[in-house]
Amino acid sequence: MENDGMSLVTSDPAAAPPAHCDIVFRHGTVIDGSGTPGIRADVAVDGGKIVAVGDLAATRAEWDIDAGNRVIAPGFIDVHTHDDRAMLSGPDMAPKVSQGVTTVVVGNCGFSLAPLTCHGRPPAPLDLLGDETWFVYDSFGDYLDRLEAKPAAVNAVCLVGHMTLRVGAMDDLDRSATEDEIALMGERLEQSLDAGAAGLSTGLHYPAGHAASTEEVIALTRRLANNRGLYVTHMRNEADDVEKSLVETFRIGRETGVPVLISHHKVIGPANFGRSVQTLARIEQAMTEQDVSLDLYPYTAGSTVLDPGRCDGRMRVLVTWSVPFPEQTGRDIADIAADWHCPPVEAAKRLLPAGAIYFMLDEGDVQRILHNPHTMIGSDGLPHDSHPHPRLWGTFPRVLGHYARDLGLLSLEEAVHRMTGLPAGRFGLSERGAIRPGYVADMVMFDPLRVIDRSTYEDPTVPADGIDLVLVDGTPVWQQGKTTGARPGHVLRRG
Ligand code: ZN
Ligand code: CU
Repeated sequence: MENDGMSLVTSDPAAAPPAHCDIVFRHGTVIDGSGTPGIRADVAVDGGKIVAVGDLAATRAEWDIDAGNRVIAPGFIDVHTHDDRAMLSGPDMAPKVSQGVTTVVVGNCGFSLAPLTCHGRPPAPLDLLGDETWFVYDSFGDYLDRLEAKPAAVNAVCLVGHMTLRVGAMDDLDRSATEDEIALMGERLEQSLDAGAAGLSTGLHYPAGHAASTEEVIALTRRLANNRGLYVTHMRNEADDVEKSLVETFRIGRETGVPVLISHHKVIGPANFGRSVQTLARIEQAMTEQDVSLDLYPYTAGSTVLDPGRCDGRMRVLVTWSVPFPEQTGRDIADIAADWHCPPVEAAKRLLPAGAIYFMLDEGDVQRILHNPHTMIGSDGLPHDSHPHPRLWGTFPRVLGHYARDLGLLSLEEAVHRMTGLPAGRFGLSERGAIRPGYVADMVMFDPLRVIDRSTYEDPTVPADGIDLVLVDGTPVWQQGKTTGARPGHVLRRG
C-alpha cells in the first residue's frame, strides 16, 4: 500500500516547504485519489487549500495532527443522492460527513426539489424529498442561491429532475409531453443550466416518468449539448428489459452528443441474476463509441417508494415509512399482512403513501459491477425515511472496509479513486478529488484497519467506524465521532 516517497511537492515545485500553515498531517499514508499506490508523506493545509505534500518536518502548524497508521485521502464524492432537501433541513449532513463524504450530487432519479412549486402533495417519488411545503423554488437559481446563502456542511452538485419538470409543465403525467410542454420544460432546463445545474436526470422507471417517450427525453437532453451537462438516468427497466434500456440510454447520448451516466446499475430479480456479465459488456462496448459512465450502491437491496406491484410475496419487502401507519415502519410487508389477515399486496396499498426496501439483487452482480474499473460509488440514500436503507449511513466505509480490505475485491487506492478522482473528472470538479498542492482541502483521515459500515437493515442509522476527521474547505465537519456544526459547503456550479 505504501512506499517511502518523501520527496516534496508544492504548488511551486521549486519552493521550499512552507515555514508555517494552518494544519499539517504528519506521517500519514497519502492515497491521492488517482488510483496510484499510497505514499508515506506529510500534508500541509493553509487557507482552505492543500499547499504541500512530502517531508514537512520543518513546517510549523496551528494544528499538528499525527496521522501515523492513518490514510489521508480526498473527501469522497457521493455521486448519487437525494439530499436536495437534507442540505436545507439537516445541514450538518451527519449521515454523509460521518462516512467521509464532502460533496453530494443531488437531484437524481428524475426528481429534484427545483424548479417547482407544488400545491398539494407531490406525486411519488417526488414526495421522497418531502411534502409540498418544501417545493417552493420556482427557479433553480433560487434554490442554488438559498443553498449558498445558508450552506450545509458539504458541497453540492445539483441536477434537474425530469419528473420535476413534468410535474411543473403537464396536467397529466400518463402521457408523453406535447411540443409546447417540451418547449416549456426545455426553457426551464436551460435556465437551470444557466444558473449552474450539472445536468438532467430521468427516472423513466417511475409512473411519473414512464410515459415519456424516448423522443421527449432526447428533445430535453439536446439542451445539454456542447458540454453543458450530463444526462443521468435511472433507466426505464432494470429487470427483464435491462438491455433494451441500455440501448435506449445509449441512443439518447448518441443522438444528442451528451455524456450519459447510468445510475445505480443493477439487474433486478432472480431471473436476471448474473446478467451483469452481459450489461457490463454492452456498457464497455458503448464506451468505445460514446461517453458513458455508471455508478453503484454496494448492497443487494434497493429502496424507494412502496410499490404494491412488487409485493406479490416473491421478494422480501421492508417498510421504511408510511404516512397512515407510521408504527409499521421497520417491519416486513409479509408480517404486516399476516397481522392484518390480508394479502401482502393489499397491505401495501393500505400503507401508501409509503416507502420500502426491496431485497431484489444478487451479491455476484453487485461485486461484478463494483469490480468494473469505471464504476463510481453513489449511496442513493433516502435521508427522510424513518427507517432508511443502511446505505444512507454506510456506503463508503462499506466499500473501503468490506469490499476492498476484507474481500480484496479492489485495492484501497482503487476504491478511493472511484469515490474521488473518477467522479471529480466526470462532473468536471476542478481542484477537487485529489490530494495535490493547489487543490481545495476537502479531505478525510481514516483508519484503514478499522474503517467499516455499522448500519444494518435492522439498525440503519449507526455511524460508520474508523472515520477520524473530515475537512471541507479546510474546516473540520466531522471530528471525534461527531459533527462539528461547521457548514463550509459550496454550491459547485457547472462552468
Ligand atoms: Zn433511482
Ligand atoms: Cu436514486
